[in-house]
Amino acid sequence: MQHARGDSADLLQLVEGAIAGERDPWANAANAAALVFECVPELNWAGFYFLRGGELVVGPFQGRVACVRIPMGSGVCGTAAARRATLVIPDVHAFPGHIACDAASNSELVVPLLAGDRLVGVLDLDSPRLNRFGADDARLLETLATRLVAACDWKLAGVDGF
Ligand code: SME
Repeated sequence: MQHARGDSADLLQLVEGAIAGERDPWANAANAAALVFECVPELNWAGFYFLRGGELVVGPFQGRVACVRIPMGSGVCGTAAARRATLVIPDVHAFPGHIACDAASNSELVVPLLAGDRLVGVLDLDSPRLNRFGADDARLLETLATRLVAACDWKLAGVDGF
């Protein structure tokens, strides 16, 4: 199987192609993380945390080794999860409680994964560049999150509430 390499403009289409016909959340999240990391410029980390046992547990990602468990409400990921809202953080060092997994990270975008009214987890992007993410990035990754959630059977994932 061969996949075209792309940029942000190609991301949604490449993800749709990679997950077509597959309902397994871990498999689809793995390929989505690979494509985000490949297509979105200036990232040092891209991946997923899933809600398991009441906290966020690291899932498929690209980048350096990450913290495994993040309590709801902690750091950027836990705050986005608790608020069920996208967070665009221009300078992570100015975010109270930011969890530094990779010292290279300077800005961050976190998008909650919502299946109806149930929180499945978050999609997290880190960049070494300050102020890397804007409203366009947020919209793109929110669309990706919506499509990924819809494409998967979450009963297969071991996430809370399914
Ligand atoms: N910085 C995140 C932790 C996850 S890593 O960046 C991969 C946070 O504050 O939630």
